[in-house]
Amino acid sequence: MIPLTPPLEILPEPESAIPVQPCTLVIFGGSGDLARRRLIPALYNLLLDGLLPSQFAVIGLGRRSLTDPDFRRIAREGVIAHSRQPLVEATWREFEQHFFYLSGENEDAHTYAALKARAEEIERMMRLPGNRIFYLSIPPSSITAVCDGLDHAGLATRASGSPPYSRIIVEKPVGRDLASARQINEVMGRVFDESQIFRIDHYLGKETVQNLMVIRFANSIFEPIWNNKYIDHVQITVCEAEGLGSRAAYYEEAGALRDMVQNHMLQLQCLVAMEPPYSLEPDVVRNAKMEVLRCLRPIIDADVERFTVRAQYTEGIGNGKPVKGYRLEKGVNPNSTTETFLALKCFVENWRWSGVPFYLRTGKALPKRASEIAVQFKDIPHILFNMDPQHSLPANVLALRIQPDEGLSLRIVSRVPGTRTQTHPVEMDFRYSEVFGRPSPEAYERLLLDVMIGDASRFMRRDAVEASWAWITDILKGWEAQQLLRLPEYPAGTWGPPEADHLIQRDGRSWRIL
Ligand SMILES: NC(=O)c1ccc[n+]([C@@H]2O[C@H](COP(=O)([O-])OP(=O)(O)OC[C@H]3O[C@@H](n4cnc5c(N)ncnc54)[C@H](OP(=O)(O)O)[C@@H]3O)[C@@H](O)[C@H]2O)c1
Repeated sequence: MIPLTPPLEILPEPESAIPVQPCTLVIFGGSGDLARRRLIPALYNLLLDGLLPSQFAVIGLGRRSLTDPDFRRIAREGVIAHSRQPLVEATWREFEQHFFYLSGENEDAHTYAALKARAEEIERMMRLPGNRIFYLSIPPSSITAVCDGLDHAGLATRASGSPPYSRIIVEKPVGRDLASARQINEVMGRVFDESQIFRIDHYLGKETVQNLMVIRFANSIFEPIWNNKYIDHVQITVCEAEGLGSRAAYYEEAGALRDMVQNHMLQLQCLVAMEPPYSLEPDVVRNAKMEVLRCLRPIIDADVERFTVRAQYTEGIGNGKPVKGYRLEKGVNPNSTTETFLALKCFVENWRWSGVPFYLRTGKALPKRASEIAVQFKDIPHILFNMDPQHSLPANVLALRIQPDEGLSLRIVSRVPGTRTQTHPVEMDFRYSEVFGRPSPEAYERLLLDVMIGDASRFMRRDAVEASWAWITDILKGWEAQQLLRLPEYPAGTWGPPEADHLIQRDGRSWRIL
């Protein structure tokens, strides 16, 4: 496909408008998977792009007993395996001198006393001003213990407007239902001001997700037709090709609704459905998104049967390899009713979206890894080139690819060259990597930088987290009342159970082929 815009010269990364202050990043869960695969490679890429301050320290925490050199070795392996840009020996050797490790239990007060002493020693040695970011890359059950520990040790200074600052980043999921999310937010709110809390949803750092607002509000052609008069429906899909992997303990307690819909997919829906904010101020954007969550029609009681389909994968082929059925995976209860697939239909009840269904679909062990938002426009009238109702022309679709191959495409109908009038759908396709000549920064790079400069626009505010949990908790209660002993099934490597097709086909529509 030829890009609409010719490839540009490689553009230099613009310097951050707000300078990044020297700071200490404390990673609770520094020995874990997320730190190794995402956070440390993100820091390294920020360094290579000249976006990290030269005075900077990372203190990793974990239960494992590791030395600083052990931690640096794990960090290096993470960068080699997962960094967007390759490891450069000379830069790495200098960079790793900024990495330190401390072992301790999150629930033990000694951990915080030791952290305070170590942080102060490192900050003195590296002439750091005491700005601190606490990244909680740990199970959600430990969040409150860490907040209390930081508080009692005097490590969490409340925002005063003058330096040094302290900020906290919490990973999703914040809680597992409305009550637990509220409890975590209560404790965080006792220790930190809301302006210091950054609830991360890494989807909000992805290029295409950020581009959604630009597409909608920097182009005059979309906004006039971005409503129920012209849009037939919206599909939001987040598919994973992988099965469970090694995350049974987490996933058994979570399932697709909590893992994907509560955070990533509802955030995407907010960006598609929100009203134009009057500025890009973090709270103005977050207010606009919050309105969408307030307008979501609840799915309660028996409606869960009509509006949701959950299922589990069984034995099949994934990524060309045999995959075990979910209930046979290590660490999974053989009678588990945790959903590995979910399709649902919902409505945003306001003037703009009245009557427009949003179909959400997510799952594990599907035929490919792909995430996209597809906005399908209404059919044209059955006249001129669309006379035959049996063979309608395909509708226009604007599809935003979030991963892989970030970009967007617009399906339009064109004339086929020749002597007879024939029509055919064609796609105008735009790929970031082709047009801008450089790979997009990883979401965690952008989000870590946002925290360092104190920009919370791409983070979830407390009210949004609780509003989305309130909506999700209604569905969870409806499912509980169903008391299903077995969920519908789909073989690994297929697009979910037939019930998911029926959900959308009942409305005369079909899932997009990805
Ligand atoms: N991995 C991802 O791609 C991903 C993506 C999105 C969100 N998340 C979220 O990020 C968080 C971390 O995930 P992960 O995949 O990195 O998990 P993980 O590999 O299991 O790592 C958990 C980390 O927390 C530490 N830890 C756990 N309990 C502790 C305790 N009681 N006291 C002290 N340290 C403790 C572990 O230390 P030891 O290993 O030394 O015991 C380890 O460093 C989770 O909330 C997860 O939901 C992860």
